[in-house]
Amino acid sequence: MVFLDLIEKKRDGGELSAAEIDEMIGLYVGDDIADYQMSSFLMAVMWRGLTNAETATLTWSMAESGARFDFSSLMEPKVDKHSTGGVGDKVSLLLAPLAAACGCIVPMISGRGLGHTGGTLDKLESIPGFRVDLGHDEFRKQLEAIGVAMGSQTKELVPADRKLYELRSLTATIPETGLITASILSKKIAEGTESLVLDVKTGSGAFMQRLDDARQLADRLHQIAILSGLQCSILITEMDQPLGCTVGNSLEVREAIAVLSGDAERSTDLKELTLELTTEMLVLSGLSESHPHGLRLAQQALDSGKALERLGELIEAQGGNPRIIDNIGLLPQSPHTTVVTAPYEGWVACIDARLIGAATVALGAGRTQRSDSLDPAAGIELHAKCGQWVSRDEPWATLYHGPGADLGRATMKLKAALSISPDKPAAIHLVKERRP
Ligand code: URA
Repeated sequence: MVFLDLIEKKRDGGELSAAEIDEMIGLYVGDDIADYQMSSFLMAVMWRGLTNAETATLTWSMAESGARFDFSSLMEPKVDKHSTGGVGDKVSLLLAPLAAACGCIVPMISGRGLGHTGGTLDKLESIPGFRVDLGHDEFRKQLEAIGVAMGSQTKELVPADRKLYELRSLTATIPETGLITASILSKKIAEGTESLVLDVKTGSGAFMQRLDDARQLADRLHQIAILSGLQCSILITEMDQPLGCTVGNSLEVREAIAVLSGDAERSTDLKELTLELTTEMLVLSGLSESHPHGLRLAQQALDSGKALERLGELIEAQGGNPRIIDNIGLLPQSPHTTVVTAPYEGWVACIDARLIGAATVALGAGRTQRSDSLDPAAGIELHAKCGQWVSRDEPWATLYHGPGADLGRATMKLKAALSISPDKPAAIHLVKERRP
């Protein structure tokens, strides 16, 4: 194959055949297509899109690009959740141990930060010692022992997504329905889950900012998931402001532990969405007969401390220091903080999640180039959220930063993110729709 021909075909609006897509993925994983050519192809896809047939083939080629986990001998239902990406979206850190504490087997393959959004793997790796590159046997043993394992794409597991995911993040080629669908579902097929709850985000901090685009993505995801033999349920949820009160890797781990410890006073949206998505997993997998029953189960596992205990077991099983659960001071800490205050009084009408995500990247919590190393402690804590009153000069955010931060850029983005209004804004509904 001459890959240049495929770039031209997509650029000119053509549809690739299954054989062409299969060969392209094989060559790319084998390092026989250079990143500069793949970047050009991805940009052509951004403009021309992928058809349903192309998306299905790409998903399956990517899933088959490495090994596939098989946990069919485990009797309990295997169920996972994946989000299409948001800012402050740390739900997986709480939900995976919570669902396991409710009886699910959760084989979760996650991603790293993508564009302005955070990634579960980067958050987990901010825990000293935590490993995400688990092999099949380790994964299985851990699922048998504690019902949950959280890993990454590797050279063996979905290597195609491992390479494409990073390239898309660095070349502004993320928000295309087919590419997102193939990236998410290839991981889910390869990890061996039976059922999947998808959290499709919409709003300023999401890749699909408009509700109609989120619906299209949700419908494509559902269609290809069903064709791939996965049971699937989808919620479209709000991502106009960051979820919870922190954005940045170790800060988000800290918040997740706080919520699982019963300290959710300031993180009500995070707790509500975690319970909602866990309930969906329990119902979809048949562990619960109804939504109210599932919600009760999830709430009990949270309130009893079982989910927190399971998080400690998960951290220990993957080489991390479980003592962070009782002593968050053991997580990486920033040497510097800068407080940003409200310029005048009023109701917080909007905290633009995309700008907060970009500010966090400028602080060093995300990547804009391959060579960037992450500062695990960098990030932002919000002291006010939409619908709260702030007085003039009241602190509304704190930046946590180290020597590599671009503080000027981060502060500029942060300040631009805040809108204050004399009128109280309407209440936010986290779950906008269920699809299909
Ligand atoms: N999450 C993924 O795993 N891939 C995407 O493309 C977007 C969100």
